[in-house]
Amino acid sequence: RPLKVVTLVGSLRKGSYNRMVAQSLAELAPAGLSVELLASVGDIPHYDADVQAEGFPGAVVAMGDAIRAADGVIIVTPEYNYSVPGVLKNVIDWLSRLDKQPFAGKPVAIQSASMGVFGGARAQYHLRQILVFLDAIVLNRPEVMVGAAQTKVNEDTATLGDAGTRDFIAGQLKAFEAFIRKHGSDGA
Ligand code: FNR
Repeated sequence: RPLKVVTLVGSLRKGSYNRMVAQSLAELAPAGLSVELLASVGDIPHYDADVQAEGFPGAVVAMGDAIRAADGVIIVTPEYNYSVPGVLKNVIDWLSRLDKQPFAGKPVAIQSASMGVFGGARAQYHLRQILVFLDAIVLNRPEVMVGAAQTKVNEDTATLGDAGTRDFIAGQLKAFEAFIRKHGSDGA
């Protein structure tokens, strides 16, 4: 059966290079894999245990449901000060408190884009550490780190333009499909 994966973008910026990468994934994915964007991390309030005690915000519940219903998650994120942006960590923190924690046993692939030469590599390794606690199953390779992202995007179409990077990402998506088919659950 065809697989569905959902994408979580770790930037709020209108002109986000990471969102441009994320917006290219549907057309780069193999035939057996559909890719849809999740809601913006900006739709989720700051984590507060007092708010949680009154009931999870609807946007958190909806995102948890969307992740649970998907066969896999792709996280596309900037690196802030050698780690993941607070807005992304905030969403993960909320999701981690849901009764049926949606990342448990869920296949996850990571991508990052940055203006620097390392393409957000250090944030990816922090993110992998977080995903250990959430018991996600994370694709090891190929690692997608888009350095000098400002030279590789097409600002007019808000997508990734660079042909070599597009090919490389298509390769990761192919590997992710195979990974999900081998290690994933039924996506229920
Ligand atoms: C950055 N940036 C950055 N880049 C990087 O490669 N390593 C880093 O540690 C940081 N740190 C960092 C901290 C903060 C607070 C900001 C605002 C930026 C630069 C970052 O890669 C650049 O702003 C990207 O364009 C952010 O991604 P989006 O928003 O374009 O998706």
